Amino acid sequence: MPELRVFPSILSAKFENLGTQVQEAEAAGCSGIHVDVMDGQFVPPITFGAPVVRAVRASTTLLIDVHMMAVDPKKHFEELAQAGANSITVHFEALTDVFDDLKQLEDLGLRKSVAIRPSTEAHSLYPFLERLDQVLIMSVEPGYGGQKFIPQTIGKIEGIRREIAKQGLNIEIQVDGGINVDTIADVAKAGIDIAVVGSALFNDSFGVEEGLKALMQALERNRD
Ligand code: DX5
Ligand code: ZN
Repeated sequence: MPELRVFPSILSAKFENLGTQVQEAEAAGCSGIHVDVMDGQFVPPITFGAPVVRAVRASTTLLIDVHMMAVDPKKHFEELAQAGANSITVHFEALTDVFDDLKQLEDLGLRKSVAIRPSTEAHSLYPFLERLDQVLIMSVEPGYGGQKFIPQTIGKIEGIRREIAKQGLNIEIQVDGGINVDTIADVAKAGIDIAVVGSALFNDSFGVEEGLKALMQALERNRD
């Protein structure tokens, strides 16, 4: 099983203590911070944008991984980059001109990532895989934390992993939604590089450190 990195999603964090929660995640051994930008149109909720990215940047040196659930993501690229984002994911379903969108990310020096909803076929990504640094496979419908993992995601990850190998590329696979102690080993086995974890790290029952330890133990138990 390849080494797996965990990016906590601040969607489930306590915003009155955002800086502390981000610092706890870094101290616990998380590898990046996932920031869910929702515009109320691509998905029903509205979350946050550049000011929150700036607050996260002030609290950590970790990679800031912005997941844009927005119908017109590119109008925010520059502002997010200036606020301290390192990586931007745009949804395939919101792309108007994939090559132009990716070029804009590249010109801003950002890591380039495209996400697909559970209902979008993996092969939609294949024509431009070589232009990407990361693909994000949604394992729940985007919009809310705390949902149940969709099992069909496993086959999708395996398919993308095979295609990346076939094309001889070096692209990271990220999975987002419903990742917890019961699901992390299966997505790791399927071949992901990065697990985004919200409610299994930020919740009322235990702290980030304990949550991360439990995820790592679940991985260890399932190691072949
Ligand atoms: C959902 C977001 C996720 C969310 C995951 O649309 O993209 O990043 O925070 O939350 P959990 O891990 O609770 O499913
Ligand atoms: Zn996300």
